Amino acid sequence: MALNRSARWQVSEQRRVEYDLVSTPDVFDPRNDALLSIGRVHEGRRFVVVDQRVHDCHGERIEAYFSHHRIEARIITLPGGEAGKTVDAWLRVLRELDAFPIHRRDEPIIAIGGGVLTDVVGFAAAGYRRGVPHIKVPTTLMGYVDASVGIKNGVNFDGHKNRLGSFQPPQRVLLDRTLLRTLPRRHLQNGLCEIIKLAVIKDAELFRQLERFGGSSVAAAFQDDAGAWILDRAISGMLEELAPNLYEDELARKVDFGHTFSYGLETRHGDRLLHGEAVLLDILASTSIARRRGLLGDSDAERILGLAGRLRMAPAVELLDGGLMWQALMDRVEHRNGTQRVPLPAAVGECVFVNDITRVEITTAIDRLHDWARTKHDRIPEC
Ligand SMILES: NC(=O)c1ccc[n+]([C@@H]2O[C@H](COP(=O)([O-])OP(=O)(O)OC[C@H]3O[C@@H](n4cnc5c(N)ncnc54)[C@H](O)[C@@H]3O)[C@@H](O)[C@H]2O)c1
Repeated sequence: MALNRSARWQVSEQRRVEYDLVSTPDVFDPRNDALLSIGRVHEGRRFVVVDQRVHDCHGERIEAYFSHHRIEARIITLPGGEAGKTVDAWLRVLRELDAFPIHRRDEPIIAIGGGVLTDVVGFAAAGYRRGVPHIKVPTTLMGYVDASVGIKNGVNFDGHKNRLGSFQPPQRVLLDRTLLRTLPRRHLQNGLCEIIKLAVIKDAELFRQLERFGGSSVAAAFQDDAGAWILDRAISGMLEELAPNLYEDELARKVDFGHTFSYGLETRHGDRLLHGEAVLLDILASTSIARRRGLLGDSDAERILGLAGRLRMAPAVELLDGGLMWQALMDRVEHRNGTQRVPLPAAVGECVFVNDITRVEITTAIDRLHDWARTKHDRIPEC
């Protein structure tokens, strides 16, 4: 028998990713079947992970919901906040899950909370038995318009944000805007920063609506009509960017606007900056760089910088730090496979990618922003 030394096998498979995002007011009302719209209901069980603050507000209703539907539910809570986005939190969810067996296919894990909780639980769902289904119910604005929309999850590791994680599509995302009512103003503004990001790089109409109604919608916790429009528009825009590139095969992503320098700032100043607040600082720095390069006209740059003031945000520009932001850019170069691929605004609603930002440009941009911050109250333009 002759040995065939050049044997070669190839495997090629395509797997369809399909999930929906469904708007469903008052998701904990027992008459609302959205939470049980996927999976086994008769003699069903559910492993439910709830953000601690959300549990404080809605814990009794959540428990009553599952008992009303005769579902054996194991409800555990996790603290929100970036400090809780750890390998330990991930392991705790896995241990609790393992102590409450669920069917591998038809008893989806339910994650109810902000971006921290859905990222930790999504990653647990990805790892347990090499992947079990999950449903996300975002309860923060950040979760509603961003963290729950795509398929990424993860935990912080080794001093880096989201260094461990996976792509694990949810089965469904349930959007209940009324849950935002209890969210503190700072966290509403935090989520708003991701909406500003989208508006700047791809949606001039969304930007105009933020200029007109952003402030009043934050005051109304997005329970007003303008707020509902802004949320729907932001989710649609986010999906337009994410859906064709769910696994990030294309590394030049518009939605990475605001997510280059912010990583270093957020990690260094975790006690002062929320994720969106760091993103806003990055947006301001990127806008300043684009303006200096002549990519962005003065009036568009003024509108972008002015929006923060119009929305009564006070970005902590004193935290901008050239060395730190350069290091963050270098880390992003690794993440983006050797090239900067930094999105910069080319107008309100448009962006370009650049690969040659220098350290000097960053420090110049910071100086300009310090000048701007000193005088900004006189410079918020009329629209
Ligand atoms: N996976 C993704 O694609 C993606 C996208 C964007 C952001 N993120 C991640 O999201 C995280 C930030 O998310 P976040 O801003 O939601 O933070 P978070 O989950 O820590 O929630 C913020 C705070 O709000 C509290 N809270 C949650 N819901 C509440 C409610 N309805 N009422 C009152 N308080 C409530 C929480 O307990 C917490 O204290 C970051 O870790 C970021 O990396 C992930």
